[in-house]
Amino acid sequence: MTSSETTMHSSDTGTAAGKVLLKAERLERKFGGLTAVADFSFELREGEILGLIGPNGAGKSTTFNLISGFMPPTSGQLFFLDENITSKNATYISRKGLIRTFQHESLLSEMSVADNIIIATTHRLKTTAARQEKMRKIAGLTGLENYLDVPAGSLPHGLQRMLSIAIALAAEPKVLCLDEPLTGLQGVEVSAALDLFEMIRSKLGITILLVEHNMRAVMRICDRILVLNHGRLLAAGTPEEVSQNELVIEAYLGHKK
Ligand SMILES: Nc1ncnc2c1ncn2[C@@H]1O[C@H](COP(=O)(O)OP(=O)(O)O)[C@@H](O)[C@H]1O
Ligand SMILES: [Mg+2]
Repeated sequence: MTSSETTMHSSDTGTAAGKVLLKAERLERKFGGLTAVADFSFELREGEILGLIGPNGAGKSTTFNLISGFMPPTSGQLFFLDENITSKNATYISRKGLIRTFQHESLLSEMSVADNIIIATTHRLKTTAARQEKMRKIAGLTGLENYLDVPAGSLPHGLQRMLSIAIALAAEPKVLCLDEPLTGLQGVEVSAALDLFEMIRSKLGITILLVEHNMRAVMRICDRILVLNHGRLLAAGTPEEVSQNELVIEAYLGHKK
């Protein structure tokens, strides 16, 4: 697997220059005989939008499960804000400031939009007034201000996606990990979501790790991109570098040499 060795260096290049917030060292996750993630090392730097792409089954969601403490790696190590979090659980890691969304909706569908957001504020904010204020601010940012009393499950799909992001923001992340947040969004909704991600980075100062299969969106918004294939790092670099990488083109087109 010389490809992952040679590309490892290019993950140190790119435009973002912030300090390292999250570092993965030789992550591996097996499910029985299947290796979902193998020898995967990367760094996420403060202020960047880092893309994580790869074909279906490449190990992207598993990587999210590992870094957010939803499941332990089989081997390898994880560092977040200079602390070794390899064996920490999901609650610990989210309270420390790494928040992830889920590829499939995980809303409390009977509950109102407002309550879905408020529940996510309760760890950080102690008073009802503070929680309400935070909820209104986040609902405004995510375009949900006119739907506060609507049951989450009754929202149109695009707004359910926005609510997932609102819930994540309510927990006041330092690092926000988004798992395919654009799935099912229409054209205008996609550009609105990308504007929101830019705003989350620039105005809220939140660093973003983005898993997404919408290539145009990834190329437009990410500073750097990591490409996974069969659980291994295939390439890393700027959108331009990655999109011209022959290994990446092959993996996506399904060609075999
Ligand atoms: N909990 C699990 N148990 C068994 N196999 C899993 C589990 N989660 C993921 N996998 C397998 O690991 C591989 C990577 O899956 P996943 O990380 O979901 O890929 P991606 O998000 O890139 O599409 C797939 O082959 C998938 O079937
Ligand atoms: Mg996935």
